[in-house]
Amino acid sequence: MEEKSYSRVCITGGSGFIGSWLVKMLLEKGHTVHATLRNPGNTSKLDLLKSFPNAENKLVLFQADIYNPTEFEAAIKGCEYVFHVATPMLHDTQSSQYKDTAEAAVAAVRIIAEACIRSKTVKRLIYTASIMSSSPLTEDGVCFKSCIDETCWTPFDVSFTYANDFTMGYIKSKTLAEKEILNYNEYDNGRLEVVTLACGLVGGETLLPYVPGSMETILSLLSGNLLFLNALKLLQELLGSIPLVHIEDICQAHIFCMEKPSMKGRFLCAATNPTIGAIASSFQEKFPDNQIAKEFIEGPDKGVTFDSTKLMKMGFEYAYDTKKILDDSVACGSRLGYLIK
Ligand SMILES: NC(=O)c1ccc[n+]([C@@H]2O[C@H](COP(=O)([O-])OP(=O)(O)OC[C@H]3O[C@@H](n4cnc5c(N)ncnc54)[C@H](OP(=O)(O)O)[C@@H]3O)[C@@H](O)[C@H]2O)c1
Repeated sequence: MEEKSYSRVCITGGSGFIGSWLVKMLLEKGHTVHATLRNPGNTSKLDLLKSFPNAENKLVLFQADIYNPTEFEAAIKGCEYVFHVATPMLHDTQSSQYKDTAEAAVAAVRIIAEACIRSKTVKRLIYTASIMSSSPLTEDGVCFKSCIDETCWTPFDVSFTYANDFTMGYIKSKTLAEKEILNYNEYDNGRLEVVTLACGLVGGETLLPYVPGSMETILSLLSGNLLFLNALKLLQELLGSIPLVHIEDICQAHIFCMEKPSMKGRFLCAATNPTIGAIASSFQEKFPDNQIAKEFIEGPDKGVTFDSTKLMKMGFEYAYDTKKILDDSVACGSRLGYLIK
């Protein structure tokens, strides 16, 4: 029988939506997990992580904040794989060191990559990037290229109808941090392998007691929440469609990137890319009593071609299609009382 090998891994942002799933899955596989969170005094986050199978023996918690990035070094020490999942969503206005989330995110990826190199144990650094850094818009923002793939980078000198300061700050910080972290593949003959997974909008289920922001965005057509409807419209304005991926596929993709004997570079990670029109029609069919505005139903039903085959060519397979992602997101929203049936 083949002998199983277990690793010691670090996950930054272990108590977030994606982070908590990843912690749970890696513990279930028998790995030792170093998870960071900003505030270990937050008992609801702590209790969730401690409730996972194997947590008692294999979960080690660390306090670390991106605005004080040297704090990550202790969590990285002794690990073979580091998943950098945490990202600053809101700027810490108390910070005199960084002027915005982009500066903080870039400084953090540098310090984390350097701590990985210094550790002499870390083989691979896997960054949870966002598809929002991979817009197929031309530099002048006038039209879309024929296809989204790993060569696309979001142009900054474009103004978007549905953006606000928060979303623009997020796009900038994810794009600059991803570019910065990929540079470490060139360092020291590529001894540290860096993989970035540019993830689509994540739906499905959550372990958290609330509906995460990405799921609120998917469900906005049913909830009517204007803030999240604008986020959905921004995605389509930026990407020409809504790349979607299920939480279980996202976590399996992260683990796939760890289990490959060797892997580096940038990979898009989304299973499907319906338009808002296609999502709206699917919801309307499923919930005929819920009147979804015509502007959504009548929008384009076909988006810009999305090519996420680079990861699939490495051997990764998605288990969830559009229908399953939407159905699970609705079930989760209903379970948590977010969508009133
Ligand atoms: N969900 C999606 O659709 C999606 C799509 C593409 C990419 N992503 C990326 O996936 C990652 C996780 O996102 P998520 O959806 O799971 O969101 P989330 O639930 O809001 O998680 C964000 C995580 O970042 C941590 N964080 C925030 N500010 C921090 C700071 N100053 N220092 C240290 N940690 C900080 C949070 O830690 P605390 O728990 O301590 O607050 C939390 O663990 C992010 O990098 C995001 O860009 C998400």
